[in-house]
Amino acid sequence: MSLNPIDPREVVVADRLSGVSRIVGVTGSKGGIGKSVVASTLALALADRGIRVGLFDLDFTSPSDHVVLGVDRSFPDEEFGIDPHRVHGIDMMSVAFFAGDAPVPMRGDAATSALLELLAITSWGDVDVLILDMPPGLGDTNLDVIRLLPRLEFMLVGNGSRVVIESVRRALHLFAELNVPMVGLLENMRRGERNSVSDLAVEYAVPFLGSIPYDPTLEDALGNVERLRDTDVYRSIPTLG
Ligand SMILES: Nc1ncnc2c1ncn2[C@@H]1O[C@H](COP(=O)(O)OP(=O)(O)OP(=O)(O)O)[C@@H](O)[C@H]1O
Ligand SMILES: [Mg+2]
Repeated sequence: MSLNPIDPREVVVADRLSGVSRIVGVTGSKGGIGKSVVASTLALALADRGIRVGLFDLDFTSPSDHVVLGVDRSFPDEEFGIDPHRVHGIDMMSVAFFAGDAPVPMRGDAATSALLELLAITSWGDVDVLILDMPPGLGDTNLDVIRLLPRLEFMLVGNGSRVVIESVRRALHLFAELNVPMVGLLENMRRGERNSVSDLAVEYAVPFLGSIPYDPTLEDALGNVERLRDTDVYRSIPTLG
């Protein structure tokens, strides 16, 4: 999975990200397990600690981070590239800033091209941690970022439900096969005591990053960072050491 020498954007990407120290993709093999909530809250928690953080919503069909953080979808400024929006101390980029309410259906090559375009034009500047909010599943965009961003590390979000745990195992298997560095495995929406997610972390020798409980107050806190800071999600988010 090497770079494509005839697409100059692939070469430009490394340059655009040269001021970024760490790239962490928040991913999950299943939809709806809290990747966007975790990515956005992690960005907020890091920014609150004075860390320079970027947040890049790579879910082109259903971007959500602007909803979690209560961000207006105004068009980004442009000079020598596109400047991320500065929100709550976070540098943030999302296709939602370009598309508004319009749906952005894409498949295969179109999704890869959109990803490349955004990576090639966004001016992140100096950032300690760039967090990527990944779309659900293990499809195009996940495989593309693995190929295009050699410094990428994944934070895998799962939960202990039997319908999730199998797909978490598949994801761990794939990332091990592709040698993707892992920040670790994070359990979200924990309801009971038994923790099969941590068992999987042990089995695949990746760090277990802890459990975020199911927090019924989260829904009302979405879009309001003051209230978000007062949720169990914010209190339990792992802050990358
Ligand atoms: N710890 C939690 N407690 C309560 N609700 C949660 C928690 N984490 C996430 N949710 C809720 O679960 C739903 C799905 O969350 P989110 O959109 O972050 O998942 P996702 O994995 O990003 O989904 P998608 O695969 O569509 O991108 C949202 O309604 C969110 O508010
Ligand atoms: Mg999401």
